[in-house]
Amino acid sequence: MKVLLIGSGGREHALAWKLAQSPRLTELYAAPGNPGIETEMSGTGITKTRLVPLKAADVDELAAFAEAKSVDLVVVGPEAPLALGLADRLREKNIPCFGPGAKGALLESSKKFAKDFMTRHGIPTAAYRAFSSADEGKKYLRSLPEGPIVVKADGLAQGKGVVVAETLEEASSAVDAMMNGRFGDAGREVVIEECMTGEEVSLLTFTDGKTILPMLPVQDHKRAGEGDTGPNTGGMGTYAPVSVFTPEVAKAVDAQIVRPLQNALRQNALRQDALSHDALGYRGCLYIGLMLTPQGPKVVEFNARFGDPETQVLMPLLETDLLEVTYACATGDLAGCTLKWRDEKAVCVVLASLGYPGEYRTGYAIRESPVPEDLAQNSWLFHAGTARNAQGGLVTAGGRVFGVTGRAKTLEEAIARSYARAAHVEFQDRAFRRDIAHREIKREKTQINRK
Ligand code: AMP
Ligand code: GLY
Repeated sequence: MKVLLIGSGGREHALAWKLAQSPRLTELYAAPGNPGIETEMSGTGITKTRLVPLKAADVDELAAFAEAKSVDLVVVGPEAPLALGLADRLREKNIPCFGPGAKGALLESSKKFAKDFMTRHGIPTAAYRAFSSADEGKKYLRSLPEGPIVVKADGLAQGKGVVVAETLEEASSAVDAMMNGRFGDAGREVVIEECMTGEEVSLLTFTDGKTILPMLPVQDHKRAGEGDTGPNTGGMGTYAPVSVFTPEVAKAVDAQIVRPLQNALRQNALRQDALSHDALGYRGCLYIGLMLTPQGPKVVEFNARFGDPETQVLMPLLETDLLEVTYACATGDLAGCTLKWRDEKAVCVVLASLGYPGEYRTGYAIRESPVPEDLAQNSWLFHAGTARNAQGGLVTAGGRVFGVTGRAKTLEEAIARSYARAAHVEFQDRAFRRDIAHREIKREKTQINRK
């Protein structure tokens, strides 16, 4: 099968690595891909890979390319091409696509749409109100008792459109800032919602719009600094599975969130009413951002795509053929699939450029030292922000440069492996958190002490 993978980050490198293991894969095109994806393929022998110089947002060109090459499946990594309707364009051409159409992508690209969808289908989430006028929004804030409150720009704002305000005054400033054009169109409407507390868990799922298959629960360290301090980032490290996601929690999430979601997608898959808000025809990864609150699990947000760096821990733990699952999602045939997971732990540490998520410099040479065989077999260096310079040398090219994953029977060993592998990569301004999975380690210790 010929596959076109869209995107250029660590998430896409992890997907490419996993797709390359499928005996059914004959060719992989990556648009635009990255140097890691390119070398990944050259080693497999079974696969011809080509990086295609098309950007993820060039949806017309991407659809034309997929048609010209007669690809059997397109796997979309990032949200932007989904929101721009790439999957719709491909389906019009009868090309199977893993990724929702523009309407399904609204679950991520419009916070208000996602909140209204949850309300219509009885899916637990923070109480909220949406406003298209700053004055109305601020008036509403004045009617609330003092305390933390969350303000969100409705549209895609690259992870920066959420303010968890400690006071109503701070919330009021956030409303003004968002509606004064700081996020362009994304801030035309704002959602003001109740501030929830609890552990956050990323539950990524595969779906063909009729069946939902959850993957393993993952936790992401979103803050830049150790001890979960400092500004929010795209994610500085992840680990899976997560012990707070106990069998009881899994049961509650299944009954209160996954089932209603599946029913909603199913009902609407049957309704070919184009005017219906809910006829999403969702096929792809539906990422459920959960908060395990004292009142039970609630949805913080949906993403219409795989998480980054969640994918970098999920792929090394997934035993099932990713090409088969993504193709089944794209063709509406997921009911017959089951997911198999290794009984192991995985940890990913992100190597970033100093200054990220603020300003940082790029273009520094990257040096890799030889990795001992046993370490190489249980650790992966996923490229995120790397590029080749004019001489063909590997250089830094982004805020998040690598995701380094270690896998092992125990969490401690998985952590040790990911940091040991990371020590084999050097570049100027390399910055990373040294405490990935610290909360999980603490929990494991508490458990042992209790026994
Ligand atoms: P989002 O972009 O919606 O994922 O929000 C970014 C982050 O803001 C989340 O990962 C949470 O940590 C936090 N957040 C969003 N909504 C809420 C809420 N209602 N209560 C508490 N924290 C929230
Ligand atoms: N790691 C969070 C995200 O992909 O949105």
